[in-house]
Amino acid sequence: MQKLALIKLGGSVVTFKDRPLAANAGAIDGISRVLAQLDAHAIIVHGGGSFGHYWSLKYDLHTKPASYDAHGVSVVHESMIALNQTIVNSMIMAGLNPYGMPPSVFTAGHRPIAAKIKQVQAIARSKVMPVTFGDVVHAEGSKYSILSGDALMTMLAKVLRPSRVVFATNVDGIYKDMASRELVSEIWVTGKKSIEFSKASGTDVTGGMQRKVTEAFKIASSGMDVLMVNGFVPERIAEAVEGKLRVGTVVKGGRR
Ligand code: IPE
Repeated sequence: MQKLALIKLGGSVVTFKDRPLAANAGAIDGISRVLAQLDAHAIIVHGGGSFGHYWSLKYDLHTKPASYDAHGVSVVHESMIALNQTIVNSMIMAGLNPYGMPPSVFTAGHRPIAAKIKQVQAIARSKVMPVTFGDVVHAEGSKYSILSGDALMTMLAKVLRPSRVVFATNVDGIYKDMASRELVSEIWVTGKKSIEFSKASGTDVTGGMQRKVTEAFKIASSGMDVLMVNGFVPERIAEAVEGKLRVGTVVKGGRR
């Protein structure tokens, strides 16, 4: 059976994070072209970047379930649908068969619905490519919350145990420190491992790079390798899926 790849496209790659509501068409098209050449089934998750995060900050929506401004809920969700549509259209132009879906199709609040997630996998195996995204989701009563694309990665990975889990961000991988920018090519998640981070960016309601690394470590600690690559060099996404990554960080989850 063909490999299943679970790929997160960070908001910093698919949008210009410092320009409100600006999709990075060049980056998206480059990724679509590479995905169209992949010899694997794929499920894509994308982030919010200057769409979801922009409006979430304006309306003060966060990951904690609360009774947020109802209009804000609507605007944040709509902005994510708009970004999803831009990405899906680029993929269609590249000859892919994307199928956009909000996470509420396979989650209840922040809880996964395993049977629905299996259906997402069946869709991927039928050569149609699910493309989901971080979103504002209903929690209970009048409460909503932001569910990040990174948290979705952990949910999907735990239920489906894909052959490849890839995070494409705007940097080459995990750096030893920001001063030297020395790339860590491999990290083993065994025992207690803590990584220190400099301050998260002010335009990100879900925790920036720290959040991604935290989710990558969670996935790796359940026995899967996680590959962190630079999405602005889309060939690296293909290399990661094909097991031939040259530049990036592998967060190793298996046995040493
Ligand atoms: C955020 O998703 C979604 C919303 C703010 C609605 P992510 O947290 O996964 O987005 P990025 O990748 O960091 O931009």
